[in-house]
Amino acid sequence: MNARRSFAGDLPLPGAFVEHREFRIIPLEIRWISAAEWSIVALIVHRFRISISAVLLGKLRTREFASSDAWESFVQRFRRGKQPLPQAWADLFGPLRNGGVDDLVIVGQIGQSLDGRIATASGHSKYINCPAGIEHLHRLRALVDIVVIGVGTAVADDPQLTVRQVAGPQPARAVIDPRGRLGANARLFADDGVRRLLITAEGTRCTLHPGVEVVTLPAQDGNIAPSAIVASLTRRGMRRVLIEGGADTLSRFIAARCLDRLHITVSPVMLGAGGPGIELPPLERADQAHRMPVRVHMIEDDVLFDCDLSAQRVVLGVAKKST
Ligand SMILES: NC(=O)c1ccc[n+]([C@@H]2O[C@H](COP(=O)([O-])OP(=O)(O)OC[C@H]3O[C@@H](n4cnc5c(N)ncnc54)[C@H](OP(=O)(O)O)[C@@H]3O)[C@@H](O)[C@H]2O)c1
Repeated sequence: MNARRSFAGDLPLPGAFVEHREFRIIPLEIRWISAAEWSIVALIVHRFRISISAVLLGKLRTREFASSDAWESFVQRFRRGKQPLPQAWADLFGPLRNGGVDDLVIVGQIGQSLDGRIATASGHSKYINCPAGIEHLHRLRALVDIVVIGVGTAVADDPQLTVRQVAGPQPARAVIDPRGRLGANARLFADDGVRRLLITAEGTRCTLHPGVEVVTLPAQDGNIAPSAIVASLTRRGMRRVLIEGGADTLSRFIAARCLDRLHITVSPVMLGAGGPGIELPPLERADQAHRMPVRVHMIEDDVLFDCDLSAQRVVLGVAKKST
């Protein structure tokens, strides 16, 4: 780290990290700006009196999506082993390659509005994020072994949980449905060759879906311990797990300290009333709040906060077989 400047402040040097008061470090990767480009940036800033961050974020955007043709080889390399990852994707997805706490990587994701909503009052959540935000979600799916959602999302959205927008392998799919509420025709149960899991509470009578593995776990006051859910997945060979929502499910995983990372994609819209985002046990004072290292990325018009929760993550174990 050779230089630091405030985010809204002076012209940072090429290759420098930019520090922001609220986050530990925002690695604005500007190494790819050549000396010639750099002088053009300076000229634009001077001539049109616009902020340097606007120019740099525009550059980030171009870079991120110009590299999509290398995605397929990135996925293979990411899963295969120890070769270094191409820089274009490493900043964003590199932290998901290996566990920092144990063998596992548990990542959560949620898309929300500026006013912290994940859905409208009627439960509609499609199109909160820009198309590239959806693509980002599909990339996450392609990198994990299994995608997990709560039954609230399964009922409201009937998602397929497949990788359709980008190249990559299809992950297994699981729904947490402690009371057996989900109908047999849910699309995530479709028999398309991947493993499908129904995680439910002991003693619940569920509709048996052909080919779907039923995982029964103890529940206390309606809550199945997220650590028990993860343990049941690792016994089935899942090493990288995506908790895709909704907010209730994610909140339980965060409160139980069972996430390594959390991708929150904030879209520049206001939904007014609607489904709330993450809700955790209340704190008396703001200075008791858990602060974490955060990386920030632009995804078209959305801002992705990649939150590192590994400092508070409990040890969960080792997957039975690695992928
Ligand atoms: N914007 C986004 O990124 C995004 C992503 C996903 C969903 N959504 C939206 O979010 C809404 C649904 O989210 P939500 O927060 O209401 O529901 P949810 O998280 O999808 O599902 C919550 C339900 O799942 C079950 N559950 C989850 N974890 C459990 C655990 N550890 N132990 C026991 N039960 C557990 C419980 O079922 P029971 O109620 O049966 O006890 C719980 O009420 C929908 O409107 C959807 O469109 C938005």
